[in-house]
Amino acid sequence: MRIITTIEEARAQPQAKCRVLVPTMGALHEAHGQMVHVARKHAGDDGEVALSIFVNPLQFEPGSDYERYPRLEKMDEEFCRKAGVDLLFRPSVADMYADDRSVFVEESFLSNTLEGESRPGHFRGVCTVVAKLFNILSADAALFGEKDFQQLMIVRRMVRDLNFKTTIIAVPTVREEDGLAFSSRNQYLNNEERNQATVLHKALLAAADAGNKSEIEIVQIVRRVINEAPLARIDYVELVDAETLKPIERVRPNSLLAVAVFFGKTRLIDNFRLA
Ligand code: PAJ
Repeated sequence: MRIITTIEEARAQPQAKCRVLVPTMGALHEAHGQMVHVARKHAGDDGEVALSIFVNPLQFEPGSDYERYPRLEKMDEEFCRKAGVDLLFRPSVADMYADDRSVFVEESFLSNTLEGESRPGHFRGVCTVVAKLFNILSADAALFGEKDFQQLMIVRRMVRDLNFKTTIIAVPTVREEDGLAFSSRNQYLNNEERNQATVLHKALLAAADAGNKSEIEIVQIVRRVINEAPLARIDYVELVDAETLKPIERVRPNSLLAVAVFFGKTRLIDNFRLA
């Protein structure tokens, strides 16, 4: 595995026939491992799998967890080696962002709801860094997880509207045995919070079981299940169209139920396709 830490080194890499990128912020877990696995298959025998680790300051809104986001350099390196990553790109903030930077990438439709509403500026930071990573590594394809469904949709839109050559591949949400979606932020949870966080998936399953209901009924079901956990504090529960991410009034084909819930200081998100 080649490890590179500067943009200059990245540019100097021999170009593989097909370079498949897994962009991450590190603190790697099984879902990232699954993405490397899918990337490997997509890259084929002559292709290569690149994984980037960069805790992107631009996508953390003021007062959020940028400083305390887990940084596990050695463990992540070992993880990548075992998972079969060919190229590990780990740039510094100083290398990625000039102090007087003045160009950003902003998606202006899908970013207005859900996470975009709760975290102003977040998707501008995501789009900007993803565009940079695609350019720096000259990615032929890149993988994004459905756990961050809105991010996936926004990156797809960016690729379409700005004509990136990068093919976007979606990876279904990877969950622990008890249903909790893997997330680097799960590390923040204490035992009690971790146990109670299983209500997220339970609530989504209850909504899926409820069938073709109105938005009001579905949201009520989800809120009721989540509120069974005393430590849960709901940020949002929303039923939206999975293409436009705009609110809808009833479950119908292509509906997405998206939730964001705090357990203590930790904010977790999850989603589920309904109907
Ligand atoms: P990070 O949270 O490290 O996630 C990296 C990739 O892993 C994202 O595409 C995310 O959707 C995917 N992922 C995380 N948990 C998952 C799970 N349980 N199941 C399936 N996929 C999962 O998302 C980011 O980093 C950043 O915003 C980034 C795209 C790297 C830009 O900075």
